[in-house]
Amino acid sequence: MKKVFVALDGMTAEEVKVFLTRYSDDIFCIKIGLELYLKEGRPFIKEIKDSFGKDIFLDLKLHDIPVTVAKSIASLSGLDLKFLTIHLSGGVQMLEAAAVAAKEHLPGCTLLGVSYLTSLGKNELHDIYNIDIDQMKTPMTKMALMAKQSGIGGMVLSAKELNHISDIKLVKVCPGIRLSSEIEKGQCQDQKRVVDPNTAFKDGADFLVMGRSITQSKNPEAVFKELDL
Ligand code: C5P
Repeated sequence: MKKVFVALDGMTAEEVKVFLTRYSDDIFCIKIGLELYLKEGRPFIKEIKDSFGKDIFLDLKLHDIPVTVAKSIASLSGLDLKFLTIHLSGGVQMLEAAAVAAKEHLPGCTLLGVSYLTSLGKNELHDIYNIDIDQMKTPMTKMALMAKQSGIGGMVLSAKELNHISDIKLVKVCPGIRLSSEIEKGQCQDQKRVVDPNTAFKDGADFLVMGRSITQSKNPEAVFKELDL
C-alpha cells in the first residue's frame, strides 16, 4: 500500500462516510481540511476515526502569533491525529510554541510545517516572497532548517523541491500530486508545482497527499490500481 493521504475535500460529511465505506480498504490514510473541520468539527473527526480506524492528517494550516497557535493546538487535545499542519512562515517562536503544545496535548501527532503552497507558481512566488522559481534551494533549505531547529517533525512541500532538502531529516509530505496523464493534459486545476506520484516517491517523499485525482475521478478504483495503493 503506497503512503498516500486522500484529501477528503469538496464532500459533505455524509458523502465522506459513503466514500470511506466504499473505498476504505483501498485507502492508506485520510486528510481532513479546514473545509470539513469548520463545518463538522471535532465530533466528525472522532466519528471517522472510530468508524474507519485510519490515521488522520488534520490540515488546518495554523498561522498566527505564538500564543494563539499554541492555544489552538491545546484546543485539539483529545483528538487522535497523525499529522497537523502549521505554516512555517509563522516564524521560529511560533513553531517552538507549537512544538511544545503538540508534545503536551497531541501525543503521537507529528507537526508538519507548510513551506510554499503548491498552488503558487512563478509569478506568485516572485510577488509574495521575491523568490525565483528556479532558485528555490536557499529558501527551501532555510525553511527546513527552521522547522528542524524548532522541533517540528516534518514539512509540506512540492515534490519539485525535494532534492533541495534531501539531506535534512524531516518527514516530507507532498501535495500538488497529479497523475502523469493529467499533467500531460494540463488537468491540474489550481495546483501549479505538480509532480506525478512515482516521481515524488522516487525523489524522496515519505507521504503524498492526493485529493481530486481520486475523489473526482469517474473511476477511483482505477486510480487506486494505478497507484498500487
Ligand atoms: O485535490 P488536490 O490533490 O489538489 O488536493 C490537495 C490537498 O492538499 C488540498 O486539500 C490542499 O488543501 C492540500 N495542500 C496543498 N498544498 C499545501 C498543503 C496542503 O495543496 N502546501
